[in-house]
Amino acid sequence: MHSPDVNAVVSTVYHLPDEAATARFGALLAAGLKSSSRLARLSPNLPTTEVLPPSPLAGEGPGERGEAAKTSSEPTPHPFLPQGEQGFNGGLVITLEGDLGTGKTSLARALIRALGHCGPVKSPTYALVEVYVISSLYLYHFDFYRFDSPEEFLDAGFGEYFNANALCLVEWPERAAGCLPRPDLRLRLRHEGAGRTLEASAESPEGGRCLNALRASAASFSATPGPR
Ligand SMILES: Nc1ncnc2c1ncn2[C@@H]1O[C@H](COP(=O)(O)OP(=O)(O)OP(=O)(O)O)[C@@H](O)[C@H]1O
Ligand SMILES: [Mg+2]
Repeated sequence: MHSPDVNAVVSTVYHLPDEAATARFGALLAAGLKSSSRLARLSPNLPTTEVLPPSPLAGEGPGERGEAAKTSSEPTPHPFLPQGEQGFNGGLVITLEGDLGTGKTSLARALIRALGHCGPVKSPTYALVEVYVISSLYLYHFDFYRFDSPEEFLDAGFGEYFNANALCLVEWPERAAGCLPRPDLRLRLRHEGAGRTLEASAESPEGGRCLNALRASAASFSATPGPR
């Protein structure tokens, strides 16, 4: 059951005319997330100053979809999660949907940088997951494009990553449909001419708070409210 403030903003469409707009939007989203009580609890020491994404670093260009062998990263034991603890009860999950090349990784990269990560942000196309530790926040950036079936999510043990102490960004969540926890925020990117549109939908009260914060700061990108 959504709380009233969630229902106030359920879905918003933003226009992102170029890559710089995607990067800027990612930074604004980071600021919105930092205003979320859950993320503040996860990592109270996150930088409060806005970090604008620098130009791309070597080795972190757009993901290329080749036929290289699939590899699965070993799950990184979470320092705060007791062994055997199951379920998802308090982290944040953001899914990034959209066709090939719609800017999912670009947006994730800007978000991760704006949260305070200073090194390269590689596409998780081949590794399936890239792990970032920002202050005390564990951020997992997934890309499930290479899954042949959603059960591979379970086989890889990725469920463990979706815990109360983590922020999970998921590209190609539809490839793990039925196995992924419900997201707090759904971001759907589409090609629009040379640019992109982004539809942001809240799927939880926490997601609704983020969207409300974003609505104020990202007003210059907004178009019309999206369909629910
Ligand atoms: N708003 C935008 N307008 C135009 N181009 C953009 C925009 N945002 C990102 N791009 C460009 O789109 C290209 C693809 O970006 P990116 O790799 O992030 O897509 P992706 O959705 O992650 O692709 P994949 O499905 O392969 O993972 C990049 O060249 C990036 O610079
Ligand atoms: Mg990508």
